Amino acid sequence: MLYFPSCMPTRDFLSVADLSPAQLKRVLSRASDLRKGKPAPQVLKGKSVALLFQKPSLRTKLSFDLAVHQLGGHPVYTSPDEVGLGKREPVEDVARVLSRYVDCIVARVFGHDIIEKLAAYAGVPVVNALSDAEHPCQALADLQTVQENCGSLKGKTIAFIGDGNNCATSLVLGAALVGANYRIASPEGYELREHVIDKAQAIARQSGSKIVEARTPEEAVLGADVVYTDVWISMGQEGEAEKRRKAFIGSQVNKQLMVKAKKGAIFLHPLPAHHGEEIGIGMLEHPASRVFDQAENRLHVQKALLIELFGKA
Ligand code: NVA
Repeated sequence: MLYFPSCMPTRDFLSVADLSPAQLKRVLSRASDLRKGKPAPQVLKGKSVALLFQKPSLRTKLSFDLAVHQLGGHPVYTSPDEVGLGKREPVEDVARVLSRYVDCIVARVFGHDIIEKLAAYAGVPVVNALSDAEHPCQALADLQTVQENCGSLKGKTIAFIGDGNNCATSLVLGAALVGANYRIASPEGYELREHVIDKAQAIARQSGSKIVEARTPEEAVLGADVVYTDVWISMGQEGEAEKRRKAFIGSQVNKQLMVKAKKGAIFLHPLPAHHGEEIGIGMLEHPASRVFDQAENRLHVQKALLIELFGKA
């Protein structure tokens, strides 16, 4: 609507930028209400949701399964090897078959083109539970956690250290939508993709947030309210592990780096974490860590998202 064609009213959620700023605000505030114990409306009563996974999962699988249950619905999970999405059966056919059984498809895939194809062929809403390009449900939980800990999002600064990957992408778009500032420090060759920066900058021009590509982790975290990092080797990149470990050697979030952030800054990580790689030993137990609140918020914010998609307009 305001920003991009992908903001046109849709019930798919493939990118954070599929939500308008108003919808995003509503989802985050509803998620915090749910966290405080407000009863969840049973918007999925009598409905079924397919959880279609091409990659492993702990948080996403469990939190979506529970979210669907807690909204009165019935989740059906399929593991990475069962379906053979795009191998045993074309993506278009899987989308059309599932649409005859369920009311929503939550999918974790490799290429983003796969989730786009699912959405194009499905007759029911499709939710991105992580693709190589985006992890929008994670960004929702990240923003909820920042809002709960920092009191607001507008004008707060989030520093992302490391790979310009799916989590970094969804977070920069989300930060821009809510008017938070975002600084990223990535090693050369692993920066956010140019079209992502362009899209985030376009949103930021409307919301007033500042998006900055910093030269060093120290520059990125200086005075930041939030310090964030993710793995150096994402699912599907295992073949590049050695090369990536070398490239990311200076991209660790540790106690020394945290000192450069604003006093009282919080530390976030989407998990799973590799202790001694992208985070120093003890970072999950650091007083600044809100990592387990962030993991908990996946459940609340995904319920809030499903209420947004399935609740009465
Ligand atoms: N960037 C990571 C996030 C895992 C939650 C991956 O894609 O594997």
